[in-house]
Amino acid sequence: MALKNDGWKKLVEEIRNCKKCRLHKNRRNTVPGEGSLNTKLMFIGEAPGVKEDEEGRPFVGAAGKLLTKLLENNGISREEVFITNVVKCRPPGNREPYDDEIKACLPYLTRQIAMIKPKIIVTLGRVSTKILYSLAHIPFTSMSKLHGSVRNVYINGLEIKLIATYHPAAALYNPQLRTILEKDFKLIITVYRENIRVSKTHTLLDFFR
Ligand code: URA
Ligand code: SF4
Repeated sequence: MALKNDGWKKLVEEIRNCKKCRLHKNRRNTVPGEGSLNTKLMFIGEAPGVKEDEEGRPFVGAAGKLLTKLLENNGISREEVFITNVVKCRPPGNREPYDDEIKACLPYLTRQIAMIKPKIIVTLGRVSTKILYSLAHIPFTSMSKLHGSVRNVYINGLEIKLIATYHPAAALYNPQLRTILEKDFKLIITVYRENIRVSKTHTLLDFFR
């Protein structure tokens, strides 16, 4: 636990000093991510927006408020999950991050996954879904085909349930997408709760072995 915290502090410091891609030039703050380092559930968005850049925290703007609400409506607090993005600095004008920026930043995300060892990874939107599918060696087709189903995959040797859903920003002004997102979150939370229950059973069995 203490070791994990030390590793996390070191990673945050590295990201704070990072100049590995052009996005360092316009950032106000880096946004490494936040939440529980011991969680089973990790959310991965695309990139910080203007509010995130201002505060150095992920998903605190309008899309973030929707994400927080989707969690809280299902009885989950932000603090018990981990929330981060594919790139840790804001792309100017909120454009999508370029491939070379994603490539430069990806080692931070893979270190976060290795450190937290989540059982479930939820990708928010196309950019993070593409990257995680690529890490899991599965071909990406389209969000409309892939969202809302659970895939058992291996990512860097870890067994993970990968669930893709739409980006909350896309659902802000689109009621149909919002309904789909709410439905996908029901699935995510069911898998999460089931996972907690199963792992507790395992602990008990291990105890009696
Ligand atoms: N959109 C993202 O993808 N990430 C954030 O942190 C905020 C908005
Ligand atoms: Fe470094 Fe990532 Fe920021 Fe680029 S986006 S400067 S790689 S932390």
